[in-house]
Amino acid sequence: MKILLNQEELDAGVERLAREINETYGNRPLTIVGVLTGSFILMADLIRKLEMPLRVGVVQTSSYEGTERGALSINSEMMLDIAGRDVVLIDDIFDTGNTLQEVTQLMKSLGPNSLKSAVLLLKTGRQEVDWVPEFVAFDIPDEFVVGYGLDFNDEYRNLPFLACLEPADLPDTES
Ligand code: IMP
Ligand code: MG
Repeated sequence: MKILLNQEELDAGVERLAREINETYGNRPLTIVGVLTGSFILMADLIRKLEMPLRVGVVQTSSYEGTERGALSINSEMMLDIAGRDVVLIDDIFDTGNTLQEVTQLMKSLGPNSLKSAVLLLKTGRQEVDWVPEFVAFDIPDEFVVGYGLDFNDEYRNLPFLACLEPADLPDTES
């Protein structure tokens, strides 16, 4: 496994995101909605650097099986009421953009006062939608990455750094 971003670099990226969000919203109350499961570590680190009155909720989506995209499902039962609120949606990575696009559409239908998104990573050259998140910590090359919340088949989320999954790391049996 090749390390792409070490703990220090990740922390500096999260610090940058937090500074931008703090500057954008000042002391206005903010609602953070994290997209589970991939964003849970980013969310935990980021919210402790935010200075405004904060509410935190989550939605769950799942779209990947291994490194191939499957159908997207959204579970919003644990999301907070966002009507009339300023909301920032948090995800680990903006790849094709389809996940955040669908979650964004769902959330817009609930009438927030404003809605922006923040991601740790943006994979360059992969976007299939015509927008990108307002807050992005790192642009990364088009490689499959794991760690700091990101998984391969639900493993590796606990790595404290971000690593590229190389062919040698993959099981050699194709399912
Ligand atoms: P999108 O819908 O293509 O933007 O994909 C977003 C979701 O796919 C993210 O929330 C991740 O859960 C997952 N994903 C995309 N790229 C990677 C990757 O390189 N490693 C791990 N998960 C990824
Ligand atoms: Mg995810």
